[in-house]
Amino acid sequence: MSSKELCRKITFPDFGDDRGNLVVVEGAIDIPFEIKRAFYIYGSDSTVVRGCHANRESEFVLINVSGSSKVMITDGERKEVISLSRPRDGVYIPKMMWKEMYEFSPDSVLMVLASTHYDGSEYIRDYDAFLKEIKK
Ligand code: TYD
Repeated sequence: MSSKELCRKITFPDFGDDRGNLVVVEGAIDIPFEIKRAFYIYGSDSTVVRGCHANRESEFVLINVSGSSKVMITDGERKEVISLSRPRDGVYIPKMMWKEMYEFSPDSVLMVLASTHYDGSEYIRDYDAFLKEIKK
């Protein structure tokens, strides 16, 4: 089993002043990849579990730009749970990590930045298949 990092918390620069806040996320500067895709998840509630997959190619950064959620990340051996609740906080998730997002607050808007364009064939959506593939 590799001992690469499961994930990495990132705090983004926040240029707040008396007009409000402005958070900056620059690809390959504030995060370790060039951004090819952004998507966001909202309208999920506290009963929903999303994700439940690993990606062979994609790296991600997750940011709750509104509200809060949790993300569980595992490589099949080690496991971490990260709480996201501030627009300036993010978590970087390398490729080949199983991830599950849950406990979405009613106002949660979870923005995801990705290192790739979408390709459904690079997703592993079965946990046992993930364990087999990571142990190869
Ligand atoms: P899904 O992977 O189930 O979302 P999550 O794991 O983040 O909860 O994706 C839901 C649907 O959206 C699925 O039909 C694939 C599609 N989709 C895209 O077309 N492009 C994308 O970038 C993403 C993330 C999903």
